[in-house]
Amino acid sequence: MKIGILTGGGDAPGLNAVIRAIGRKGMDHYQDEFIGLKNGWAGLMCLDYIEMARQNFSGILHLGGTILGSSRTNPEKEEGGIEQAIKNFKDLGLDALIVIGGDDTLGVAQKLYERGIPLVGVPKTIDNDVCGTDMTFGFDTAVAIATEAIDRLHTTAESHHRCIVVEVMGRHSGWIATHAGIAGGADIVLIPEESFSLDDVIDKIQKRMNRGKFFSIVVVSEGYQLKEKKWDHLLKETDDFGNVRLGGIGDLVAKEIEKRMGIESRAVVLGHVQRGGTPTAFDRILGTKFGISAIDYVHQGKFGMMTSLQGTKVKPVPILDGIKETKTVDKETYEIAKVFFG
Ligand code: F6P
Repeated sequence: MKIGILTGGGDAPGLNAVIRAIGRKGMDHYQDEFIGLKNGWAGLMCLDYIEMARQNFSGILHLGGTILGSSRTNPEKEEGGIEQAIKNFKDLGLDALIVIGGDDTLGVAQKLYERGIPLVGVPKTIDNDVCGTDMTFGFDTAVAIATEAIDRLHTTAESHHRCIVVEVMGRHSGWIATHAGIAGGADIVLIPEESFSLDDVIDKIQKRMNRGKFFSIVVVSEGYQLKEKKWDHLLKETDDFGNVRLGGIGDLVAKEIEKRMGIESRAVVLGHVQRGGTPTAFDRILGTKFGISAIDYVHQGKFGMMTSLQGTKVKPVPILDGIKETKTVDKETYEIAKVFFG
């Protein structure tokens, strides 16, 4: 078969593990040919691609980012964009497409599938907010990086008797904040799913001080909203899918703590550091499993499906299940983090 591969949306460590697994099994086992569409949907729209040889799939397992490049280009944004994508798929002589992306990229994939394009999805995001799968690759790496940062910030916060507010990624879901908060022993974790007021935050820090702990670590998701303080002024431009660029809530929380408690406070924004660099072993393995399953699904004709992790097994689920809603942090996990607040 002649198969196109694309990676769309924010990159996630483990993408190259998926690409490698698809290519190696596809070429060696099924005698497939591959073209790599560059920069997500942009590659299909502009016919920007590379014909992939076996060597393109080698030496990439440990690399962060994606060898194909990525973008947040949305074909639906242009009039006739979906029709153009379908035409280009046909002009390229493709038999199938493997789409590796988060809910936005997979949303476009679903539209194309409904219009008759045979494709398989692979869910990806460091935010871990795609439904229908227990976990996405990239998340484990992001949590490991954030945890290491929290560990480092702990010692300097303690030395200087400061409150350090660590802002981590997570637009609508606080998965990274909750997991890194538990792993790093955060004193408070603020996530978009849970409403906390500044008074609650201050109360927890005060409790620590009463116990002789003159430093605190607050972890906050970039998408967190304070109960009493609107931060719309922090919102920046939107991308092709209407997602607002976030950033700045950590600074706001740190300033409020300093103002109201008189404790010297600092904000640290981890930002894209969480997405860059080499994937953990877990993400390489999950990416490899997803890649192998994706190429198998193509040959089994399981179109309109995506790979998913269910417990320890990889299983096919409809792409529709992955895009129907955002997977938010479950109460049970957040309750565990809460035990250690204050
Ligand atoms: O979608 C994953 C993500 O890393 C979010 O956590 C974050 O809000 C966003 O991407 C950042 O996007 P960009 O790389 O376009 O700045």
